[in-house]
Amino acid sequence: MHNPRLDLLTDYPFQRLAALLEGLEPGAAPLMMSIGEPQHPVPALVGEVLATSGAGWGKYPPIAGAPELKGAIAGWAERRYGLPSGMLPLEAILPASGTREALYMIAQTVVPERKAGATPLVLMPNPFYQVYLGGVLMQGAEPLLVDAGPDTGFLPDIEALPPETLARAAMVIVCSPANPQGAVLSLERWTALVRLARQYDFVLVADECYSEIYAGTPPAGVLEACHALGGSLDNVLVFNSLSKRSSVPGMRSGFVAGDPAIIQRFQRLRAYAAAGMPLPLQMVSAALWSDEAHAVANRRLYQEKISDASAIFGDRFGYHPPAGGFFLWLNVGDGEAATRRLWAEAGVKVLPGRYLARDRVDPVSGAVSNVGAPYIRVALVQNRETTQQALQRMVSVL
Ligand SMILES: Cc1ncc(COP(=O)(O)O)c(C=O)c1O
Repeated sequence: MHNPRLDLLTDYPFQRLAALLEGLEPGAAPLMMSIGEPQHPVPALVGEVLATSGAGWGKYPPIAGAPELKGAIAGWAERRYGLPSGMLPLEAILPASGTREALYMIAQTVVPERKAGATPLVLMPNPFYQVYLGGVLMQGAEPLLVDAGPDTGFLPDIEALPPETLARAAMVIVCSPANPQGAVLSLERWTALVRLARQYDFVLVADECYSEIYAGTPPAGVLEACHALGGSLDNVLVFNSLSKRSSVPGMRSGFVAGDPAIIQRFQRLRAYAAAGMPLPLQMVSAALWSDEAHAVANRRLYQEKISDASAIFGDRFGYHPPAGGFFLWLNVGDGEAATRRLWAEAGVKVLPGRYLARDRVDPVSGAVSNVGAPYIRVALVQNRETTQQALQRMVSVL
């Protein structure tokens, strides 16, 4: 006995990578560039605040979040996006134990049984963060993957979809800065998407987990678009995380914020389903959202590695410095073949782009294609020296 919807999920990309490399010995001391797990130093604030908040281990964590944490998140968002004070009230914010679980769970909150007389659609980019699809398939909604390749600037062109499709959409997920391509949505496009969400009554989910990793101008965010449109948060949710901003992926600390009516319903579901964030970690998170200095230092480390990558790759493999985030998305012709060679000849582990995208079957010819297939994703999460070494080995093999 099992839930047949589980059969719709593929193995997670890292399991597929392990299968691809099975039996191959690394050609040199292994360098791991496949997983987007930040390896920069953990900010000193984490230990300092933990040392003084131990009493919180004796309490069940409040699902709604401690006011200290929600206040810190609101303050950060106001400073980061130039929002007027009070635009993001505390009741519009929920903590999440990492955004991953909340991104998985959100479909259960916002996707109805029917929309516009049909099974609701959930739109998401292709390639995409795998958790989006998991939550949607397990909910029984119909995913519609919108290609985000070079033709559309590596972002999904949601605005170009026909009105019938948008009318059936219950939720639209957009990731900016995008994992894996590093493309960033402009304020104008966020604004257009917020307008569409309200026109067609879908929930716009903005995954902005990489918003603090950038080289020049800070990426625009969906809350700025809400501000530009008068300040309402209707139909909009933003997800963000300390995993990348503060290099604490192991802390499991993120948040979701936006439309207070949706947040209220999400909180009801989360009272049943979510693992609340322990209070001491809520206090650490509050301190991290309130501190900018460590985030600036963290960003600088990524900038150094991205300039190294620019010097090493030039314009080979379609290389361009990512506008946001810490992934390189390199066109190597055949991502799986390149991944095997990089491991066997240079000991460098990367991820084939194919594993981050779903196949598309042409309805007429039956031909199968995959928008990620020519690419590999390279995570610049190791220290600068290791990263330089890995990139140089890559250039010599590819
Ligand atoms: C695009 C994207 N969204 C969300 C997440 C989830 O991050 P976390 O659960 O650590 O907040 C990740 C993690 O890699 C990601 O790449």
